[in-house]
Amino acid sequence: PGDLTVLGLETSCDETAASVVRLKASGAVEVLSSVVGSQIAAHAPYGGVVPEIAARAHVESIDGIAAEAMRAAGVSYGDLSGVAATAGPGLVGGVMVGLAFGKAVALARGLPLVAVNHLEGHAVSARLAADIPYPFLLLLVSGGHCQLLAVEGVGQCRRLGSTIDDAAGEAFDKIAKTLGLPYPGGPALEKLAATGDPAGYTLPRALLGRDGYDFSFSGLKTAAARLAEGVTTETERANLAAAVQAAIARQLSERTEKAMDAYARAREGQPLRFVVAGGVAANGAVRAALTRIATERGFSFDAPPLAYCTDNAAMIALAGAERLARGMTDRLDAPARPRWPL
Ligand code: KG4
Ligand code: ZN
Repeated sequence: PGDLTVLGLETSCDETAASVVRLKASGAVEVLSSVVGSQIAAHAPYGGVVPEIAARAHVESIDGIAAEAMRAAGVSYGDLSGVAATAGPGLVGGVMVGLAFGKAVALARGLPLVAVNHLEGHAVSARLAADIPYPFLLLLVSGGHCQLLAVEGVGQCRRLGSTIDDAAGEAFDKIAKTLGLPYPGGPALEKLAATGDPAGYTLPRALLGRDGYDFSFSGLKTAAARLAEGVTTETERANLAAAVQAAIARQLSERTEKAMDAYARAREGQPLRFVVAGGVAANGAVRAALTRIATERGFSFDAPPLAYCTDNAAMIALAGAERLARGMTDRLDAPARPRWPL
């Protein structure tokens, strides 16, 4: 096909987002616009995302956000090749809003619809800003997910391991809360950790000696909550934050290291690429630990620019465009899927 220009819509959590992405016939990717309307202020008083509030806020803002994305991109609906909307996994009330909006645009304009898996969006997010060919090893670390995937091609992912309890971002958020930090906790904890010394606290190491590439953060969470009760000074608080961040970064890199070694053995002589994506990929300590192990093992290292790490619609538009280029479209009765493993 020629160039494909796709409107992407993302409403699976607490961000209402729309974006126009062009996938050129050459394979080059152009983000023409990416608009993200955050609901942080609406949820902050509750210390976390309230699904009912999220769904209502998506209804109120999706129309304006989509119009803004089209205006900023300088394209009209007649220029579009298709519409891509997140169809899951996520909070079903929110998913339904974006998906229904996408279906309405597709129906009204006679455009193909692509129902995109949010995780596949994160998986392609690094491709928005860099030319990263398939296949690659992916660590997906967000508020809802923590998994290692072998990404073979468009829509082809093999899961190597995943968390058996909390996601990494969820651990950051919950521990941040016990340290008295505001929602969302991850970025706040990173800021506090920057002034702390991680050496002051010893935290448990999960799943040591266990085979495979699974993650676990519940023990760390419990230990951190107990230690937080004994914190009396601001210095201690910063030290504990730094220790928690180091422990999360260490677990992520230890598991990824094992997966890299097996991946490299199975692909001897071929290029080795590693990508980290999802909101937690915004964390500097996590990035640094992963960069180090990737470099040591001869893997290229890529992480999306910060704006594409956390939820956005550009990654949904690109995942949709890549599917559209292969004729992978969906019917207008495609369901919202609150649980939808890759
Ligand atoms: O990918 P994302 O926006 O949403 C999901 O699909 O879950 O990820 C959000 C998660 C939150 O848990 C947030 O605390 C975490 O990513 N996060 C961070 C940082 N920035 C976002 N965690 C640690 N350090 C950060 N700088
Ligand atoms: Zn996400």
